[in-house]
Amino acid sequence: MIKSSAPGKIILLGEHAVVYSRPAIAVPVTCVQATASAEAAPPGSGCTLHAADLGRTIRLATAASDDPLAAAVRGVLTLPQVCNLREGEQATEPDVTLSIHSTIPLAGGMGSGAAVSAALVRALAMHLGCPLDDATVSALVFEVEKLHHGTPSGIDNTVVVYARPVYFVRGQPAQTFHAAKPFHIVIGDTGLASPTRIAVGDVRAAWQADPPRYEAIFHHIGQLAQAARLAIEGGQLDRLGALMNDNHALLQELGVSCAELDTLVDAARQAGALGAKLSGGGRGGNMIALVTPKSKQKVEQALAQAGARNVIATEIKSRVLVYH
Ligand code: PMV
Repeated sequence: MIKSSAPGKIILLGEHAVVYSRPAIAVPVTCVQATASAEAAPPGSGCTLHAADLGRTIRLATAASDDPLAAAVRGVLTLPQVCNLREGEQATEPDVTLSIHSTIPLAGGMGSGAAVSAALVRALAMHLGCPLDDATVSALVFEVEKLHHGTPSGIDNTVVVYARPVYFVRGQPAQTFHAAKPFHIVIGDTGLASPTRIAVGDVRAAWQADPPRYEAIFHHIGQLAQAARLAIEGGQLDRLGALMNDNHALLQELGVSCAELDTLVDAARQAGALGAKLSGGGRGGNMIALVTPKSKQKVEQALAQAGARNVIATEIKSRVLVYH
């Protein structure tokens, strides 16, 4: 049996402004993972997908064209290098059983959909004897992300596939970079469903009504993301924390924070976090706090006391080991 995995992710700085072509930084969250396995099935049985967490079993032959799991599989089967296809030829359905399992919280801005797709694509391609490079996996996952999110910026597929810190500018090739030293992030979930599409739409409406004001905010956020990359590469964690605090203030100005996020951010700072901000679309979902090994536990407790529904602590390393 072949197995593959991909980590979750969070956006460290630059959300929303990234939609307007400013840089953003996202990092893998390794303590949560999606895994996929591929195993030969009896001849003639075709391709079956088991998603036990979702209580779903899908037969490829009859799956809807917009089913994201089936789309990931179909994406692999259209690659000429995987199926030895000549131009215009279609691959025959392989006899294979695929199983997926994920510990990444669903719909919380932690990249669950992208990680499941990445693990699935890799496991199937390896099973078919043709391991894929990261760029090919990321491009396939991006296509599947469109089914999940409509117009994704591309940051999710990039960070979960490369499994290392990513400096992302929309439409430009992915840049991975190295953290000088590992750092610790605590993630607090407000428990409020995070309507990314609505927050992105509201920011767009505000930008259309007053372009100079919003362009200035996006520009400022982009500068913070640039500075944060340097701080991470230089191991200056106090500086990174201050930049995260500044980014949260600008996200408040964009109107994408909410009382619950602000409460958790304040609680983390008071408990000794080096910096804290909302992460992702906002208006709910998750916030993140940069902590030291010493302040980690205090911040975790403060977030739980301030009403976080779920608290995850993770260490961000330069390169995450993903077994391909
Ligand atoms: O909520 P998430 O983690 O999917 O992040 C959304 C990030 C945005 O910048 C708001 C949108 C995007 O497509 O980049």
